[in-house]
Amino acid sequence: MTIETITLAPGYTISRVAKGNWQLAAKHGAPYAQDDAVEDMRRFVEAGINAFDCADHYVGVEDTIGLFRRRYPELGKQLRVSTKYTPDIELIPHLTRRDVETAVDTSLQRLGVEQLDLVQFHWWDYEVPGCVQAMQWLQEFQKAGKIAHLGTTNFNVARLREIVDGGVTLLTNQLQYSLLDRRPENGMVELCRQHGIQLLCYGTVAGGFLSDKWLGQPSPPPPFENRSLIKYRLIIEEFGGWEAYQALLRALDTIAKKHGSSIAAVAARYVLDRPQVAAALVGAKDARHLDETLAIFSLRLDAEDLASLGALSDAAPGPAGDCYDIEREKDGTHARIMQMNQNTHGAPAHIDMSPPIAAIGARS
Ligand SMILES: NC(=O)c1ccc[n+]([C@@H]2O[C@H](COP(=O)([O-])OP(=O)(O)OC[C@H]3O[C@@H](n4cnc5c(N)ncnc54)[C@H](OP(=O)(O)O)[C@@H]3O)[C@@H](O)[C@H]2O)c1
Repeated sequence: MTIETITLAPGYTISRVAKGNWQLAAKHGAPYAQDDAVEDMRRFVEAGINAFDCADHYVGVEDTIGLFRRRYPELGKQLRVSTKYTPDIELIPHLTRRDVETAVDTSLQRLGVEQLDLVQFHWWDYEVPGCVQAMQWLQEFQKAGKIAHLGTTNFNVARLREIVDGGVTLLTNQLQYSLLDRRPENGMVELCRQHGIQLLCYGTVAGGFLSDKWLGQPSPPPPFENRSLIKYRLIIEEFGGWEAYQALLRALDTIAKKHGSSIAAVAARYVLDRPQVAAALVGAKDARHLDETLAIFSLRLDAEDLASLGALSDAAPGPAGDCYDIEREKDGTHARIMQMNQNTHGAPAHIDMSPPIAAIGARS
């Protein structure tokens, strides 16, 4: 099995499947031992997965990657870490250049590097002006050598165009892209193609919902085990509800069995093969799914597979519209489950692990 890689820029070559690390953030789910997480990181890098995704607001995660780098300096040299800059929603109305620099310096210090490989910028509220300015400040710190590459996450087409028009050169754009969520195809893929921006995709296995585990199962009762499941259970509802999703799982299972593979591998492979996609982020709290994750590389989907999956996905009513727009609807179902001030306040002491009940079952 060969690890597929992609060179995004000179000296910046990553495995096309990245280890997502939101799952290690405080209060994402059950607590874990940091030493175990470091050992699991070692397994990923030794297996050839050298791309790790994290964020400034994934509480504790940059520190754990920093610990991994100190403990395994040779493996650490192979690592390419995409982090994020996600200024808190409370901060953005009066964000300063100094705030941006402090955030960059904090990530540098936590990750234990002199230069950040890739900083992906997120902005919580389009009604608050300043996102292009903030991105331009990031670009100044890039020119100063603190950041190698810049990216974005969760922008829609109009806002991403403003950033590009503002003179910012973007290497990547991170967005949700899966068989359950093909909103990137509503203009974002094309915009990124025009500007040479590569897509890093999350949600490719929908928090685990796109896996063998859920085939033929009833919708789980709350509370859920972790925050990814809440997020993607709401996406399943947008997709048409539990039954429509189960039909997709059955089609994925048929294809998986044909290739001697798994539902998760087929789902991730589907995204990996879409135009403009550089890498699929697969969230990993530990290394339990590492072998299945590696199996994505040896899987090849044929025209019949793509037609069957495409038909089911095309038939879904949603999620509709542009990237992350429904997530931005004030007091909407999706926005209500988000934590938007974790850089300032850390993870809340208590997180409700139940998706908004009224939203679930709307179509199921
Ligand atoms: N930019 C953003 O706003 C944003 C948003 C979300 C995520 N992300 C990034 O993207 C990464 C991907 O995370 P995600 O939350 O979207 O989740 P995901 O990758 O869709 O799902 C990850 C979960 O799926 C399960 N899983 C993975 N491989 C599996 C397999 N082969 N078989 C069965 N189950 C499998 C695991 O759950 P169990 O351990 O419970 O089995 C795992 O935690 C995150 O870690 C983060 O780095 C970014």
